[in-house]
Amino acid sequence: MAMPMGTLEVVPGVHWVGVKHYNRRLFDSLIPLPYGTSYNAYLVIGSRKTALIDTVNPGFDQELLDKIAGHTDPSRIDYVVMNHAEPDHANAVKHMLDVARNAKLLTSAKGKEAAMMYFDVPADRITVVDETTKIDLGGKTLSFVDAPWLHWPETIFTYLEEDRVLFPCDFFGSHLAVGEFYAKDYGPELCVDMAKLYFAEIMMPFRLPGQKAVEKVKKLNPKIIAPSHGVIWDDPKVILDAYSKWTTEKMEKKVAIVYVTMWGSCEKMAKAMREELVRKGINVNIFDIPVTDIGHIAKELVDTPVLVLAAPTVLNGVHPAAAYATLLVKTLRAPTKYGVVLSSFGWGGGAVKQVSALLEGTKLEVLGVVDVKGPPKQSEFDKIKEIADKIEEKLSAIQ
Ligand code: FEO
Repeated sequence: MAMPMGTLEVVPGVHWVGVKHYNRRLFDSLIPLPYGTSYNAYLVIGSRKTALIDTVNPGFDQELLDKIAGHTDPSRIDYVVMNHAEPDHANAVKHMLDVARNAKLLTSAKGKEAAMMYFDVPADRITVVDETTKIDLGGKTLSFVDAPWLHWPETIFTYLEEDRVLFPCDFFGSHLAVGEFYAKDYGPELCVDMAKLYFAEIMMPFRLPGQKAVEKVKKLNPKIIAPSHGVIWDDPKVILDAYSKWTTEKMEKKVAIVYVTMWGSCEKMAKAMREELVRKGINVNIFDIPVTDIGHIAKELVDTPVLVLAAPTVLNGVHPAAAYATLLVKTLRAPTKYGVVLSSFGWGGGAVKQVSALLEGTKLEVLGVVDVKGPPKQSEFDKIKEIADKIEEKLSAIQ
C-alpha cells in the first residue's frame, strides 16, 4: 500500500496519523503558538491486532479517519488508547468507537470516569489498564506507565516494548507544527525552546509528578519519544535532559524584569534596575507586559530565580496588566525564589498591597519594595541599587 499523504512511519508498523494545526495561534486562550501545534495520534499495527494511540482536537475527526484509512480499515481497529482525556487528544474517541464497533477503549481508572463523563463512552466499551497490563497486538506489545497529573489526574503513558517507542501524550510535548516531524529536522535548539514554552504552561505546575515520570522514562530507556504535540524526539536524551532540569527547579543565574508603565515612572525604575544588574554582569531579561505574549514571561520563569515587577497604582490597586502577570506566577506555580516590587502612585498607593495579596500562599521571598509618590528621585534609585546588591548576593549562592 502506498504511504498516504501527510502521514509518517515512525518505525515499521507504527504510523503517525495526527493533524498539524499549523495556523492555530493560541492555546488555552493563554499561550501563544508562533508555529501552530499538532495533535499527534499513532496507529500501531501488529500481526493480529491494531491500536490507535490518542486521537485529535475537535474539528478533525474526518482527517484522522482518512489518515487511518490509508493504512487499515478503521472499522477493524481493536483498541483505542486514551492516554489523556483532554479534548485535544480525546475528542474523537467516541467517534472512533462508533466506527470501530468492536474496539475497546484502554485507559486508566480515572480515565474511565472521564471518558464516561466527557464523551459518553459506555462503561462496557472501556478496559482499565495499569502498570501490570500488557496488550499483545502480535509482535507489538503495549504496556502502560502510571503518570498522573501530566497533565490531568488520569494521565498515563503507553510504551511499545519491542520498538522502544514511548507515547507520553502531553509530557515532552511542544507546540511546533510547521512541516517536519522529528526534532532533528528543526534542530535541538528550537525544539527545546518550544518545549520550554509548552512546559511553562502545561507542566510547570506539576514539577513533582514530572520528576517521578522522568525517572520512570529513564529506566525504560526509549529509543524514540513520540508525544501528542509537536516534534517526535528521535534523540530522547535531548528532551530528557531538559525535563530533568526543569522539573527539579535547576535555576540559572539570571533575573526577569516585568513592568507596566503609564507615564514612565515604573519604566524608569525597571530600567534602572536592569542597568545596575547588567553592570554587575548579571543576565537580565526585561518584558513590557502589555506588549508581550504572556507565555514568553511564563517560559522565562521556568529557570529564573528572581522576578522584579514594576507597576503603578491605578485607582487604589495595581495596574490590571500587572495583576494578570502576577496571578500567572501563582497559577503556574512558578519556581521563582525571590521577588522585588517597584511601584509608583499619584495621590494614594495600593499596588504593593494588592500584589502582596495576589502572591499570598507562594514561597516567594521579597528582597525589596520601592513605592514612590510621583516620579522616582535619587533616593529611589539609591534603594534600587541596594536591592540589586541583594539580588547579586542571592544569585551568587545558586549552584
Ligand atoms: Fe494536550 Fe492536556 O492536552
